Amino acid sequence: EVLIAANAEEAATFAAEAVLHGLASRKTGNPVLGVATGSTPLGLYSELAQRVARGEADFSSASAYALDEYVGLEGTHEQSYRQTLITELCQVIGVKEENLHTPNGFGDSEEQIIAQAAAYDAQLTEAGVDVQILGIGTNGHIGFNEPGSSLGSRTRIKRLTGQTRADNARFFDGLDAVPTHSVTQGLGSILQARRLVLIATGSQKADAVATALEGALSAACPASVVQLHPDVVVVLDEAAASNL
Ligand code: GLP
Repeated sequence: EVLIAANAEEAATFAAEAVLHGLASRKTGNPVLGVATGSTPLGLYSELAQRVARGEADFSSASAYALDEYVGLEGTHEQSYRQTLITELCQVIGVKEENLHTPNGFGDSEEQIIAQAAAYDAQLTEAGVDVQILGIGTNGHIGFNEPGSSLGSRTRIKRLTGQTRADNARFFDGLDAVPTHSVTQGLGSILQARRLVLIATGSQKADAVATALEGALSAACPASVVQLHPDVVVVLDEAAASNL
């Protein structure tokens, strides 16, 4: 389902509806939300916070699983996705910090980080994500699955492309400070979620969105993997939808 909103604010409302409906269809146990970082989902988190304030939603018993984390940053580092999500998600919609799960990209050796990635993937599979929120990179990545990622991949270390590092440099003190690698859920891991909600706003995403939704299913555009999923809601503003 592709929903085209008039603007980013309306896109946040559509996305919130899609997320809450997806969570409501859970039959037993506490809700499990798959969460993304980046600028795009901030409107959604703020919309969900308003619903919490109005008593229409409650995330106090929910758990959240992040898509990805930078390699080499401890979970306490200001630019780590763990800290970002504590500030932008937990403190906004009320997911408890102890219920926020993030990949651990920090360790003494590559082997240790690889083992941590596999353990995270197993934990994620065990939890069963109800709704996975996704943004999209300008090169078509989801999570940090850069072009060329295997469509069946699991949580693992991925090298970041120059474009992704440049896109994310605004959060760091310059390009040199941006880590070169990440630990990211694989495309196969992401597909396990019961529902995917992919959000894209702004003209800079228009090419990636058109390729993902109307192009061939291909590792060249990792987001095209959503074509395989039976329950996907894509929420766009008019600018992001302009090449469809
Ligand atoms: C990062 C994240 C992605 C996110 C992308 C787009 O690379 N790993 O999960 O979708 O940025 O970010 P933004 O929403 O800021 O454009």
